[in-house]
Amino acid sequence: MKIRIPATSANLGPGFDSCGIALSQYLNIEVLESAQEWQIKHSLGADIPSDETNLLIQTALKIAPDLAPKVLRMTSDIPLARGLGSSSSVIVGGIELANRLGNLNLSQKEKVQIATEIEGHPDNVAPAICGDFVVASYVDDEVYSVKHHFPLCDVIAYIPDDQLLTSESRSVLPTSMPYKEAVKASSIANVMIAAILNGNLPLAGLMMEKDRWHEAYRKKLVPHLDHIRSISRNIGAYGAFLSGAGPTVLILSPEEKTDQMVQELGKLPISASINVLSIDQEGI
Ligand code: HSE
Repeated sequence: MKIRIPATSANLGPGFDSCGIALSQYLNIEVLESAQEWQIKHSLGADIPSDETNLLIQTALKIAPDLAPKVLRMTSDIPLARGLGSSSSVIVGGIELANRLGNLNLSQKEKVQIATEIEGHPDNVAPAICGDFVVASYVDDEVYSVKHHFPLCDVIAYIPDDQLLTSESRSVLPTSMPYKEAVKASSIANVMIAAILNGNLPLAGLMMEKDRWHEAYRKKLVPHLDHIRSISRNIGAYGAFLSGAGPTVLILSPEEKTDQMVQELGKLPISASINVLSIDQEGI
């Protein structure tokens, strides 16, 4: 049995904690055989546990405590702590593992609900499960989500080599915001979503760069964002924004501008990898 979970990018600028897209990088889980104890074969680094303490198995056992132990193989090209949903992919993987091994027949809605309860917000887990572009609200302990087709474009991921933990990136956010500012921030997100639904990427990209919820506070942790944004504007990409909690920056680009964008990004004096991705439309 094989399970494939896509990377995700949360927020898209102003859709803080509620909007996300699924991307064409993957966590792959394969069930190899039954065993006396849980074991994960992986080469993701010594810091990642390969026994029952791994988040994948912990999540699966939370949902189905009686699952019989297995030997699993886990591979991933989703970089850790870079704002591309690596931990969400593991949570979603654990839920799907329990679902399949335990024959739970969970619906997509149930998976999104369980994953959001574990993660705390739905913007990574929902697109990882459903694919494509998802807008979701976690309110009164319930997740309400809508999946929609994201307009065709290249997604350039500028992924710095240095990690940034989500907890650190959330710790710089304010605990309150003036009412008028919140209304403005919400209107920007609303127009961004409407523009995506209309296939209007130039307008969506413009709104993505006007976020008022989080990027201004996180800028000190991701000083490369402004520079990338000015490159993106000069070349004529649709927009550049922090992927999730950062430090990765995503640039939405018309296909014909992508080579030039990649070339210019490669000149930045930061140790980073630059990947040209597409939207994953399937989810798990
Ligand atoms: N919406 C979340 C954030 C995504 O920006 O902190 C990362 O978990």
